[in-house]
Amino acid sequence: MARGRSSLNSGGKQGEELPKTKLSRQTLKNVSKLLSYVQPYRGKFIAALFFLFLSSLVGLAFPSFLGGLIDAAQGKHTNKFLPATVQGIGLLALIVLFSQAFVSFFRILWFVQIAERSLADIRRDTYFKLITLRMDFFANRRVGELNSRISADLSQIQDTLTTTLAEIIRQLVLLIGGITFLAIVSIKLTLALLVVLPVLVVTAVLFGRFIRKLSRKAQDKLAESNTIVEETLQGIANVKAFVNEAYEASRYGKNIREVANIAIKGAKYRGLFASFIVFGMFGAIVTVIAYGCLLVSHNELTVGELFKFALYAVFVGSAMGSFPELYANIQKSVGASERVLEILDEKGEDVSIDHAENEIKQKIEGNIAFDNVNFHYPSRSEIEVLKGVSFEAQTGQKVAIVGPSGSGKSTMASLILHFYHPQSGTILFDHQPSDKYSLTDIRNQVAIVPQDVMLFGGTIQENIAYGKLSATKEEIIQAAQRANAHHFITSFPEGYDTVVGERGVKLSGGQRQRVAIARALLKNPSILILDEATSSLDSESERLVQDALEELMKNRTSIIIAHRLSTIREADKIIVLEKGKVIESGNHEELIGNENGLYRYLSQLQFEV
Ligand SMILES: Nc1ncnc2c1ncn2[C@@H]1O[C@H](COP(=O)(O)OP(=O)(O)OP(=O)(O)O)[C@@H](O)[C@H]1O
Ligand SMILES: [Mg+2]
Repeated sequence: MARGRSSLNSGGKQGEELPKTKLSRQTLKNVSKLLSYVQPYRGKFIAALFFLFLSSLVGLAFPSFLGGLIDAAQGKHTNKFLPATVQGIGLLALIVLFSQAFVSFFRILWFVQIAERSLADIRRDTYFKLITLRMDFFANRRVGELNSRISADLSQIQDTLTTTLAEIIRQLVLLIGGITFLAIVSIKLTLALLVVLPVLVVTAVLFGRFIRKLSRKAQDKLAESNTIVEETLQGIANVKAFVNEAYEASRYGKNIREVANIAIKGAKYRGLFASFIVFGMFGAIVTVIAYGCLLVSHNELTVGELFKFALYAVFVGSAMGSFPELYANIQKSVGASERVLEILDEKGEDVSIDHAENEIKQKIEGNIAFDNVNFHYPSRSEIEVLKGVSFEAQTGQKVAIVGPSGSGKSTMASLILHFYHPQSGTILFDHQPSDKYSLTDIRNQVAIVPQDVMLFGGTIQENIAYGKLSATKEEIIQAAQRANAHHFITSFPEGYDTVVGERGVKLSGGQRQRVAIARALLKNPSILILDEATSSLDSESERLVQDALEELMKNRTSIIIAHRLSTIREADKIIVLEKGKVIESGNHEELIGNENGLYRYLSQLQFEV
């Protein structure tokens, strides 16, 4: 899997530079891994395959029926498996036709049932895996790219399971059966036909491979342009504020033109390919039939047999012609499977994903400490963000972290939540190393009101309830009241059922924060992290938010990341962080007394001494 992993990092453009022999081995491995999702439905799958095989075989019988009919009309009986009369053959053909119709219905139904169910399973697992992956996985990837794995890649696989697989089996039966029947009718004619075959097949495969490369390029380009759409729509306010509509439009336009160019280049080759197949295939058939007519005139063949032969030749020819397309489809699915499997094989975080209420198994009272923590982000290993950070917050204390922008304050919050893990040093809860606790237990007892509050697109009530999914309406209202949010919520016509808009855009910054505070209150954590918003609120909403925060901090350990130093005068301890190092710590009086200290300097900047 090392190969798959590295290609994932290159942005999903794997496949082209891989050695061909390895690809085929890997192909089987990958496909067989995803086939385990079909395992639960294997009974039905085998039945569907059998029905498919049956209906293909029966389809193969029709040229024989037609040939037999023609010969019977001329009073000849060339096929001893068929009745001698036109009526007899017609009746038999009807019966066979009926069973063919019956079998086809079930095979289509069953294939779709199996594909839909197993695809739902794969989709669910991929999504579950995605949301439990470590944070640094997301740092290197764009949302659009991940999204396309769940939508486009899985749809491709679904297509293969419902259509391509069936089509391959059908065409294979038609090809092999067709050639067999051809040989039974006339060895000479068949040999004549088979002389042209290898040329056709080899050219088809080579051509197909080339076209596949082009279509992959077009796909990648298209994905790129989709990413542009997604990103600009998500950041539409930025686009407008910077009047960059023209820039984005031209960026998108350029990308789309490239997509079109690649696709058109592909179409040229595809067209060439089609002409070649048509000319080669029909040319071969005409030649062979002409030869067949010669045999008829020498009485080596009946007209019915020649007719039968011609039909089988068409079967064989079209089966051959369909293979490059099917092969390309399979190749696409293999690429899609690889990308999906890369996610499924990725190691997720160890969190429970049961629907059962997240119950706490190991209680954290509220003591939290860092012991000589060193940390860099996995995606940026050359920059040490935290350097030997140590501090302790005792149960119930308020500890503030201050420091210039980029000094690592929010990073400390991420470490407490165990979004990332320190490369060395220890984080302790209640004097025990954090690895003694399960991830679920830690995150259930630590709440964060983040720097940039993100709400989900639903209602205000749903957004508050996110802190405790089982909360009653009363609990939600109570939390909102304590968070100073009840008033503004009830001033909306729809009250708690107000839809907040995508990512909460319909609420003001202060309102969003109070919803986040209500959410945290509902969660009732032992440890609370407040990452103060850098954007300042007007003094009225600042007071409302501040009061809500005071309410939230009662009876628990609070870590306050503060930008406005006035809000932390009462803190039990203030830690001053600079470039990832703790350079001062103490309470307000102690720190302000340090003439050359950074805290005193920062306080002076805010005119607060
Ligand atoms: N996900 C990430 N991947 C890589 N580097 C990051 C990531 N997040 C932050 N950094 C880097 O880590 C350093 C510390 O960032 P952090 O967000 O902790 O700063 P901060 O003290 O919270 O700043 P601010 O006061 O502006 O919020 C910065 O240099 C930043 O560029
Ligand atoms: Mg920050």
